[in-house]
Amino acid sequence: MKVAVLASGEGSNLQVLLDTVQGRHGIEIVAVASDKRSARALERAVAAEVEVASFPLDLFDDRAARDRAMAEWLLERGAELVVLAGYMQLLGREFLAAFPERVINVHPALLPAFPGLNAIQQALSYGVKVFGVTVHFVDDGVDTGPVILQRAIDLPDAREPEEVLERLHPIEHELLPEAVRLIARGAVRVDPENRRRVLIDRDAAVDPADPGARPTASGMGDR
Ligand code: GRF
Repeated sequence: MKVAVLASGEGSNLQVLLDTVQGRHGIEIVAVASDKRSARALERAVAAEVEVASFPLDLFDDRAARDRAMAEWLLERGAELVVLAGYMQLLGREFLAAFPERVINVHPALLPAFPGLNAIQQALSYGVKVFGVTVHFVDDGVDTGPVILQRAIDLPDAREPEEVLERLHPIEHELLPEAVRLIARGAVRVDPENRRRVLIDRDAAVDPADPGARPTASGMGDR
């Protein structure tokens, strides 16, 4: 499965994908794109010898034109799955239609709570005791697509966004590669009876090369 990654910033999630799924499980990361010319994520991709491109808005008439150019660039590279790893722009319907049910995102909250920007700050301001991470399919809303994997963490005393992020990052770094591996194995599908619900096939989810290993994220066990 050819995978493209979109990232706007640091790219720690991209790095984990490069380190743990690239060239394994039949997965090839073929392209990394950004809306920012100088995203650290692009440097990480270059270091891993993955093709990169940036699509800053000022080069295009509007967002739709930018998305069109980006979709074209990704399709030319054969991308079958698009992973948003800290990509801070919304994608329009036209882009999503080019990759139907093949765009996923990692979000630092337990959706549907705290969608959009500054999710961790939103959660802290609300005063929650349980934080978490969601990997979901992307639709044309803001973090509203069907949930693939989620994991919660109790942080009853958290006060600062930085300390929450420090605890959430390792969870993101497990769930996002896990979702990519599951999709590559054909173990993830949307329930035709309830298109909000994502089914994970536990049998297909076992790596034939390592049959003792069971995926760990919650969200397993839907079948
Ligand atoms: C992550 O916290 C992710 O949940 C959010 O953006 C951040 C990206 O971090 N969507 P990094 O650039 O992968 O380090």
